[in-house]
Formats: sequence, structure tokens, C-alpha cells
Amino acid sequence: MDRAGRVYLFYATAEPGQQLWGLASGYSMEFWTPKRLRIWPAGLPAGERKHFALRWVLHTLHLFSHRHYGALIVRHRGKLVHYAGVRPKYWRFPFMAPADIQIGDTWTDPEHRGKGIARYVVQEIVKTFGMPGRRFWYVVEATNTPSIKVTESTGMTMVAKGGWTRSPNLWPSSSLSIHELCAVPDANSMTRNGTRLSEIAAPEFRARLDNARPVQRQPHENHRPPPPSSVGS
Ligand SMILES: CC(C)(COP(=O)(O)OP(=O)(O)OC[C@H]1O[C@@H](n2cnc3c(N)ncnc32)[C@H](O)[C@@H]1OP(=O)(O)O)[C@@H](O)C(=O)NCCC(=O)NCCS
Repeated sequence: MDRAGRVYLFYATAEPGQQLWGLASGYSMEFWTPKRLRIWPAGLPAGERKHFALRWVLHTLHLFSHRHYGALIVRHRGKLVHYAGVRPKYWRFPFMAPADIQIGDTWTDPEHRGKGIARYVVQEIVKTFGMPGRRFWYVVEATNTPSIKVTESTGMTMVAKGGWTRSPNLWPSSSLSIHELCAVPDANSMTRNGTRLSEIAAPEFRARLDNARPVQRQPHENHRPPPPSSVGS
């Protein structure tokens, strides 16, 4: 699938939003973790397994930046109807700090969509894995309205826009790069666990962005110097 040219929105938070959601009756949630011979959660539809296979390899080879890799799973009468990946940084996501988590590959069985499962799970991930200095990222294609609604309903803030860039040094891989930082109006309101959202646009974070993969810029976009080198995890 060629994702070049598509615009992605980068949402972030350091702590759960104000509003608390619940799961409807009949649903149960569990945290799935990988094991030596446990590559994906039991009952995962075949079409979704590829998302887990690569990450199992990264986890097993200790290529992730920390050991909190896993997924939150929701079942309805035993059937897996939702998952959301809890993913540490690796080289394809240079915008993340080593302690960060990306909530990725969220999926709800079409028969169970629109019931608040995804927003509940996103909120639970932030509650469960929050720690000082850790940011949670949720990156979504700009055209994916349901997914954007999920992240916004959980109180995450859009902090940047970007896209996939081919990485000459990591052939055949590509990396997800930030092209443009957004203004964060409520940045200082999120200080309870020690990470201010405003730090995302702070000089230290900008320096990390500058070290990220080169991004194609329009001639008028001259707000940042060209990156000197790439960043791995
Ligand atoms: C994105 C996805 C995970 C959402 O799952 P979900 O369990 O249906 O989401 P929720 O029920 O928690 O919905 C949260 C919000 O999104 C809204 N929403 C859900 N589906 C929607 C749709 N098709 N159109 C518009 N809004 C939608 C809900 O109304 C709710 O908004 P509200 O808080 O204002 O009421 C699901 O649509 C899906 O699996 N899509 C395919 C895979 C995908 O695109 N994943 C995202 C990758 S970034």
C-alpha cells in the first residue's frame, strides 16, 4: 500500500481526559501481552494478524524502546471485537521519545462500532500506562473521521501534521515524520502527572524533530534547518 502523499494527524496527551467512559454490559476487557509462542491474541481475525506479527518480532528481538508492548482487547461473549495496540518507539516513529507509547492499529469489529469501545480503550491505555514524562500518541490519517472522533473524544490534542517518508538508510522501510507543528492552546492545563503538553513544542522536542528523517518541504516552509542525521530507537 503506497501511503506517500497522505496527510496524517498526530494527537498526543500525557494523561486521561476529564470525561470517563465505561463499557456496555456484555463486554469485557483484558490486556494482552506477547510470549515466546504467543504472537497475537486468541480469536484475532486472520486479516488483522499481520499487524501483530511484525511487532512480535520487534519485541522478541528487543528492538522496541521499552517492554510495555501489548494490546488492549475487548471481547463480547468471548468473541474478540476490538483491539488497540500499545506500542513503544522504534525506528519508524522518530518523533516519539523512548518512554512514549503509541496507541496504534485500533480496530473494532464492524458489528460493534459506534458503541464507545474504542474511546473507552484509548482512555484505559492512558490511565494504565501513564507515568511521569511519558506521552501517548495517536496518529491517524486526516480522512479517517471515525478514528479522529475517537481520539478527540478522549481529550487528546492535535499537535502536529505529517506523513510517511521513505528512508534511504532503512530500505525497504519508511518512517512517519512530523512536517508541521500545531499551536497547542490548552498546553499548560495538563500538568497532573508531570508532563506538560506544551513540552511537545519545546526546544528539546524540536531538536528531536530536527534529527528525524528528512521531510520534503515546500520552498516557503523555512522554519526549520535541514536535519543533520537520522534517529533510531
Ligand atoms: C476507528 C474505529 C476503531 C472506531 O471504533 P469504535 O469502537 O466504533 O469507536 P467508538 O464507538 O468509541 O466511537 C468514538 C467516537 O467516534 C464516533 N464514531 C464512531 N464511528 C463513526 C463513524 N463511522 N462516523 C462518524 N463518527 C463515528 C462515535 O460517535 C464517537 O463519537 P462521540 O464521542 O462524539 O459520540 C473503527 O471505526 C474501526 O475499526 N475502523 C477501521 C480501522 C481504523 O480505521 N482504525 C483506526 C486507525 S488510526
